[in-house]
Order: sequence, then structure tokens, then C-alpha cells
Amino acid sequence: MMPGAASIVAVLAALLPTALSQANQSYVDYNTQANPDLFPECLEKGGTSFPDCESGPLSKTLVCDTSATPHDRAAALVSLLTFDELVNNTANTGHGAPRIGLPAYQVWNEALHGVAHADFSDAGDFSWSTSFPQPISTMAALNRTLIHQIATIISTQGRAFMNAGRYGLDVYSPNINTFRHPVWGRGQETPGEDAYCLASTYAYEYITGIQGGVDASPLKLIATAKHYAGYDIENWGNHSRLGNDMQITQQDLAEYYTPQFLVASRDAKVHSVMCSYNAVNGVPSCSNSFFLQTLLRDTFDFVEDGYVSGDCGAVYNVFNPHGYAANESTAAADSIRAGTDIDCGVSYPRHFQDSFHEQGVSRQDLERGVTRLYTSLIRAGYFDAKTSPYRNITWSDVVATNAQNLSYEAAAQSIVLLKNDGILPLSSSTARTIALIGPWANATTQMLGNYYGPAPFLTSPFAAFQSSNYRTTYVMGTDTTSDPSPTSQSEALTAAKQADLIIFAGGIDNTLETEAQDRANITWPANQLSLIHKLAQLDKPLVVLQMGGGQVDSSALKANPNVNALLWGGYPGQSGGQALLDTITGKRAPAGRLVTTQYPAIYAEQFPAIDMNLRPNRSNPGQTYMWYTGTPVYEFGHGLFYTNFSASAAGAGGAVKNRTVFNIEEVLAQPHPGKKLVEQMPLFNFTVEIKNTGRRTSDYTAMAFVNTTTAGPAPYPNKWLVGFDRLDAVQPGASRRLEIPVTIDSLARTDELGNRVLYPGRYEVALNNERDVVLGFTLTGEAAVLLKWPKEQQLI
Ligand SMILES: *[C@@H]1O[C@H](CO)[C@@H](O)[C@H](O)[C@H]1NC(C)=O
Ligand SMILES: *[C@@H]1O[C@H](CO)[C@@H](O)[C@H](O)[C@H]1NC(C)=O
Ligand SMILES: *[C@@H]1O[C@H](CO)[C@@H](O)[C@H](O)[C@H]1NC(C)=O
Ligand SMILES: *[C@@H]1O[C@H](CO)[C@@H](O)[C@H](O)[C@H]1NC(C)=O
Ligand SMILES: *[C@@H]1O[C@H](CO)[C@@H](O)[C@H](O)[C@H]1NC(C)=O
Ligand SMILES: *[C@@H]1O[C@H](CO)[C@@H](O)[C@H](O)[C@H]1NC(C)=O
Ligand SMILES: *[C@@H]1O[C@H](CO)[C@@H](O)[C@H](O)[C@H]1NC(C)=O
Ligand SMILES: *[C@@H]1O[C@H](CO)[C@@H](O)[C@H](O)[C@H]1NC(C)=O
Ligand SMILES: *[C@@H]1O[C@H](CO)[C@@H](O)[C@H](O)[C@H]1NC(C)=O
Ligand SMILES: *[C@@H]1O[C@H](CO)[C@@H](O)[C@H](O)[C@H]1NC(C)=O
Ligand SMILES: *[C@@H]1O[C@H](CO)[C@@H](O)[C@H](O)[C@H]1NC(C)=O
Ligand SMILES: *[C@@H]1O[C@H](CO)[C@@H](O)[C@H](O)[C@H]1NC(C)=O
Repeated sequence: MMPGAASIVAVLAALLPTALSQANQSYVDYNTQANPDLFPECLEKGGTSFPDCESGPLSKTLVCDTSATPHDRAAALVSLLTFDELVNNTANTGHGAPRIGLPAYQVWNEALHGVAHADFSDAGDFSWSTSFPQPISTMAALNRTLIHQIATIISTQGRAFMNAGRYGLDVYSPNINTFRHPVWGRGQETPGEDAYCLASTYAYEYITGIQGGVDASPLKLIATAKHYAGYDIENWGNHSRLGNDMQITQQDLAEYYTPQFLVASRDAKVHSVMCSYNAVNGVPSCSNSFFLQTLLRDTFDFVEDGYVSGDCGAVYNVFNPHGYAANESTAAADSIRAGTDIDCGVSYPRHFQDSFHEQGVSRQDLERGVTRLYTSLIRAGYFDAKTSPYRNITWSDVVATNAQNLSYEAAAQSIVLLKNDGILPLSSSTARTIALIGPWANATTQMLGNYYGPAPFLTSPFAAFQSSNYRTTYVMGTDTTSDPSPTSQSEALTAAKQADLIIFAGGIDNTLETEAQDRANITWPANQLSLIHKLAQLDKPLVVLQMGGGQVDSSALKANPNVNALLWGGYPGQSGGQALLDTITGKRAPAGRLVTTQYPAIYAEQFPAIDMNLRPNRSNPGQTYMWYTGTPVYEFGHGLFYTNFSASAAGAGGAVKNRTVFNIEEVLAQPHPGKKLVEQMPLFNFTVEIKNTGRRTSDYTAMAFVNTTTAGPAPYPNKWLVGFDRLDAVQPGASRRLEIPVTIDSLARTDELGNRVLYPGRYEVALNNERDVVLGFTLTGEAAVLLKWPKEQQLI
């Protein structure tokens, strides 16, 4: 859009109460409409080049002096900018300053499960990037090394794109909001419903992989922890994410909505955080100084010069629809003063002149934000061509890292076996001919979910089966939500009758769950369920693949003995079909576990999805496995194997004895070498001996849950996750030891004020939902506050 046209919008916005939309002169009600209509300028991609520190105008300044501190170099740069130039670099699309040789910089780059929102070429070099499974799938593998390796490859590939001028040095990833309510359209982007252990561990491994270590120097790329905070609804019941004002108690905020941001900041040293669209307790996140200063910087130990970027259009939303600011110039002023350093949008560059004249902002306010961004870019070697170890990464590194097949590996590790009567893995006598049916049977881009770039290839389930030894017929039968033709189901039944085995691949995809779109319910789409029931009546072996990020209520399939096996395949990425084939045929053994609860369908109708209270109240039956009082269809942590494992407490070594007593005061007084805080020390190792008592080699996965009914005040959670791990390739008859460190901090609970408190009382730690090994232990002495939560108040 031409600058002239944009200012006409601004004038109209000022004159007409109905002209409130972002890039559009007609009124869009963002209280109900969940998609921001962003200006083309905000939506620009890639095309970033490195500044010239060899011979450009900056080469003789402190900016290019590698012996100066990153902060001093950034401050020197900012001091060279005129006010207009400064204003021009406050948004995601930074225009640079041609006068002094500062190139344009694009802050908005995506890396959710592969390089995306980049300047891809149409063919040849830089025409694709590796597409890994969605985070909801990757987390289900319960393998922290895998998360780290994926992020490391994405970072290498992103660097190659940046070196070619097609990407930036920072990414708007990871998404570490918790998948609280099953209808959420973006739950697929997250590591599941557990905040303290899963989202935090994912954040740590992903961020340190992207950034090249814990606060590495130089940073490989800059990660952005998003969306801070309380963001987990798109448009449920027409409550738009852009206008939602979430009511969250300090207890839930501290216990559930922010611990992953604490770990991202304090432990993983993320250099960027994104404030979210929604408001919390009346204040939009991007103008919330309690969030951006008191919590993030003063409590969560965010790196000194880290920057906060607004979600795209979120600064505008402070004005419309939140109405927290009277107009866009006050929205911009409130946001930058609260601590939103960079606006993904155009409110800052187009309205700071007004804010300045209205005395809403000073030059120093703008300098603070731009200095933070450039300090971070300098830490990533933006101005250091000669010395940067990452500047020689090229397209051949993209090709080489893709060839590691880690996307396939992740998919194979992530698949969850929900039900199996023994039909899986297929023996060669079960089936020679297979009827592959359903809307996911020939899935290609469906396997990627959302936020993806072009993949090098997409191996659909059908393509994988075609290249196997099975004779495979594919009939779609029914689409995600409806039948493509009146005869489609009967065609599928005909094909099924002629096969030895039926595989139905369906569930949900991005037509039902996506950005700006929550689900209305969590049932299987009725058309699919009806076809599965007809297939089940054919008296042939039937395997169902339940795909998609959110769970659907599979109780009818669980109860139906003619459904012989049920697998959850999530969004498995570019090699998804191959991973599903190899799992079904037993080349790979499934060992993933659900990282969300599969609730019965009624759950989505019992209480409003915008009720953020975790603990049960009136119509709300309690949210997540920690607090849910009903009976799940499949529990959080559910996952079967192709073999049998037995587990026993391991006596020897550092293993804790049953019913050990620990004194709180002593525990907190111990030395803690290598740990910043004493509570990060393991109190003990939960050590178990795992034996494969079955006939197949298989990976094993474990979750360690703690529970108490005496430590601290009621209500008590059902249990909570304190650790997880995975063993690879345990041979039949072999025993292996699994050692899960249980930190002091993981035993703390959160009080009503938000403080993390270690309470005396009796606890148990148990292996998996089945409680295969249970150890009791007691904490004695006085309750101790590990982290004091500040009072919720606004500083501006
Ligand atoms: C403006 O918004 C309206 C309502 O959302 C939409 O129908 C229309 O297409 C938009 N116009 C432009 C030019 O984007
Ligand atoms: C700000 O950026 C715009 C768009 O690139 C450009 O036309 C304008 O000249 C810039 N202003 C200054 C002061 O650099
Ligand atoms: C949401 O708004 C649309 C359009 O106004 C309406 O058709 C629909 O019924 C609403 N849905 C809900 C759940 O309120
Ligand atoms: C924005 O609102 C503020 C506070 O009400 C007011 O002082 C200012 O003049 C307004 N600015 C514009 C451009 O309307
Ligand atoms: C890039 O350069 C660094 C030294 O700066 C070197 O360690 C690394 O091996 C090089 N990588 C490639 C792919 O050439
Ligand atoms: C990667 O996986 C594909 C199947 O998806 C296989 O054909 C190929 O040989 C594998 N490559 C490597 C290097 O393992
Ligand atoms: C499977 O999907 C691919 C990619 O969309 C398409 O080209 C192909 O025609 C489909 N195969 C069948 C049998 O529908
Ligand atoms: C569930 O939601 C889908 C998609 O919004 C809708 O088509 C379907 O009718 C709903 N099913 C039930 C049982 O409400
Ligand atoms: C836990 O196990 C690790 C690895 O074997 C060991 O280094 C550590 O000392 C153990 N910790 C405790 C508290 O026993
Ligand atoms: C932990 O939960 C189990 C199962 O609900 C229960 O039997 C046990 O008493 C609980 N343990 C403690 C220490 O409260
Ligand atoms: C975790 O994933 C990595 C990367 O694929 C793999 O090398 C390793 O074996 C996995 N660990 C286990 C325990 O499966
Ligand atoms: C530890 O003690 C509890 C309670 O006496 C018992 O239920 C549990 O099985 C014991 N665990 C082991 C590993 O012996």
C-alpha cells in the first residue's frame, strides 16, 4: 500500500467511528473477528541483507567495532538516527536508514517446525526447508534431545536463508502457550497441556537449539517466546483473541500461564518475547507493564537487552477493539512505555510522530526499544561478517541437514498407540491387500498443520503404502467434514470388502482447527464416524489413524471391538506417511504418549472455553490432567507399546529409598554447584529398572508424576508431572535403568497470591498413569517460599 493511502486510513479512522480496521476502511469488529487485516507493509517477508562494516558509512563508527559491547554498539547506532529514522525502525518491517548505510530489517520470521515466512525461491536452491512434525507431535516423543536437534537444524537452515538475504536473524518461535482447552485452534503449535514440565522443557530445548546454546555468543538465531501471556483461544463462541479480556487469578497465572516463560527467560536466556493479542484482567498484554516489566524483567530475569515484540497488530488492538487507549497514538505510546519494544504492525511508525507531539512518548522511549533490538542483532553477528562462525552456512547445509531424516525420525518417535487388540504390528499373514480410506489417507500438506514453508517432498500415507509390499487401494470415502459425492462412502465400502485389511486415516485438520479458528466441539466429524462404523461392520481387521493436533472423542472407537487398533498421528510432517507405514508394519515400534487429555465430547459443552480457571468450579469440571474431575477417554500420558515392559524400583546407586524424609531447611541450605538456584538441584533421582518382557524391540517412555493430599492447602491437584524420559531400542529380555531427576522446585505448589511454596507433608512419586512404581517421601519443617510473586499493578 502507498504511504498516502495509509494516511487516508488514519484520517478516516480519526473521523469515522466505524472506520476502525487496520488495513481496511470498512469496519471490522475485532471483538468477534479473529483475523487482523494487516497492512501489506507489515506482511512483507525476508529480503534482509547484512550491513556493510567493511567500507560503508558505519564502518568507521563504534557500531562496527567488535571490541565494544553489543549494547554500546547498538546505542552508537541509535544515536546516529534522526527522529524520523528512529521512528522508521520501530516496527517489524524496519526501513533501516539509507543515509548511514543501515539496511532494512525484517523482524517477522517464522520457525514453528521449520523455516517459514521466508523469501523462498520458486525452484532450485532456497525453494524449500525441512518440515518437521508440529510441536504437539514432537513433544509426544518425550525425547528432549530430539527437540534440541530439530531446533538446531531449523537454526542452521534459517541461517543459510539469512546468509542468502532471504530470512532474518530472529524468529517468532517457539509458541509455548499451554494447550489448555481442547478446542483451541493453535494447540497444534504447542507442546501440550502441561506448563511446568512439558512446555518449559520444550521451551528450554527449542530456544537453546535455535540460539546455539544457553546465551551463546554469538547467538545463532534469536528465538522469541510467545504469546505472553494467557493466550489460548482464537474465536471460541465468537470471542476474538484480538479483543479477549481473560480473567486469570494470580495463582493460575503463576502456576499455569507463565512458568514456561520464566524458564525461557531465566534458564534458556531467550532474547525476545512476544506479547499477545488478549488482555488479562483488563489490561492488553502489549501495554501491560506488570507483564513486561515487573514479571518479565524484574522477576523472570529476562536478558538485559532482550526485546519484546508485539504480536502482529497487537499494538493497534490496544486501541481497537480493547479500547484501553483512546486512539492509535496513545496505544503506541502506552505500549512502548509498558515495554513493547517493537511493533509487529504499523502503529508505531505511523503514530509516534503524533504520540511525540502529544508528549505521550519521548525520544528515549523509542531509543530504548530500538537499542534492545539492535543489541540482540549485534549479539547474533549482524554487523560482523568476518568473525561470525555462521556466515559461511549455505544451501548445501540445508540439503545436508535435511538428509539426516530427522523429520522422519521425529514422526516415528511421536506416534501414540491408543488401542491395540494385537493386530499391530501387521504380520505378513494378516494382510496382503489394504484398503486405505479417509480424508488423511492421501494427506500431503495436511501433514504440516500450519506455519510451514514449502517442503522438499511430502510422503503421504498412500504414497508410502504404494511403495511397500502391500497392494493398496485408496478411496477417500469421505472428506474431513462432508462426503465429496453421494456415492463416495459406498465406493469406500466396496474397496474395503475386497481388501484383507482396512486402514481409515481421518480425524481433524486445519479446516477445523487453525489460527483464528477454534473448534465448536471435540467430536469426530459425523460423516467420518458414520463411515468408520460401516467399515467396522464388514468383519475385516480395521485400523484407525486419528490425525490432527487437538484430540477428538474416540470413545465410540475405543468401545467398538471391531476397531482393532487406534493410533494418534498428530501432524507428522514431510515424512509422515512413511512413519505411519513403518509403525503399522512394525519396522518402528510406537512409544509416544499423549501430551493432552482426550476428554469426552460433553466436556466442550460443559463450561465456556474462556473460563481460565484450572481448578473445578460450578460448571467447570477442572482443566488439564491436574484438575479434571471427570473421566477422560484417554488420559494425558496414555500410550501403549508393541511389547510388554515391567518396571521396578532400582535399589542401588543414587536411588532414593522408599519413605525417605527430607528436611526443608536442610534441603534448601545445601550447596548447588552448577545451578543458579538451590531449588534447581535434584532432591533425588526417581530410578527405575525397566525390563522388556515381551518379544519385540521397542523404545520405552516414562512420565514421573507427584501427588500429595497433605502438603499445603486443599484443593490438591490429582497429580503433576515432574519429569519424563525415553529409552531407545530396548531388546526383548533386556533390562535398562531409567533415572529421572526430581528437582526440589518441581515439588513446590503455588499459593493464592502466586508464590511458589515448598510445603511439608507426605508425597508420592509414581511411574506413568499406571503407577508401575510408587515411592513415598516426606518433607518436614516449615513451608518455604521459593519464588515470591509480585503484586499485580501497572507502572504507567
Ligand atoms: C474490508 O473489510 C470488509 C469486512 O471485513 C471486507 O468484506 C472487505 O473485503 C475488506 N476490504 C478490503 C479492501 O480489504
Ligand atoms: C522511512 O521509510 C520509508 C519507506 O522505506 C522511506 O520512504 C522514508 O524515506 C524513510 N524515512 C526516513 C527519514 O528515512
Ligand atoms: C458467530 O457469529 C456468526 C456471525 O455473526 C454467527 O453466525 C454465529 O452463530 C456466531 N457463533 C456463535 C457461537 O455465537
Ligand atoms: C489521542 O487521545 C489522546 C488522549 O485522549 C488525545 O490527547 C490526543 O489528541 C488523541 N490523538 C489523536 C491523534 O486523536
Ligand atoms: C564456517 O566457519 C567456521 C569458522 O569461522 C568453521 O568452524 C566452520 O567449520 C565453517 N563451516 C562451514 C560449513 O564451512
Ligand atoms: C530418509 O528416509 C527416506 C524415507 O522417508 C529414505 O528413503 C531415505 O533413504 C532416508 N535417508 C537416509 C539418509 O536415511
Ligand atoms: C494424492 O495427493 C496428491 C497430492 O495432492 C495428488 O497429486 C494425487 O493425485 C492424489 N492421489 C489420488 C489417488 O487421489
Ligand atoms: C461440531 O462442529 C462441526 C464443525 O464446526 C460441526 O460441523 C458439527 O455439526 C458439530 N457437531 C456437533 C455434534 O455439534
Ligand atoms: C542422579 O543421577 C545422576 C546420574 O546418574 C547422578 O549424577 C546424580 O548424582 C544423581 N543424583 C542424586 C541426587 O542421587
Ligand atoms: C496419590 O494418589 C494415589 C492415587 O490417587 C493415592 O492412593 C495416594 O494416597 C496419593 N498419595 C498421597 C501421598 O497423597
Ligand atoms: C532421541 O532422539 C534422537 C534424535 O532422533 C535419537 O538419536 C535418540 O536415540 C532418541 N533417544 C531415545 C531415547 O530414543
Ligand atoms: C513404598 O511404600 C509404599 C507404601 O508403603 C508402597 O505402596 C510402595 O509399593 C512402596 N514402593 C516400593 C518401590 O517398594
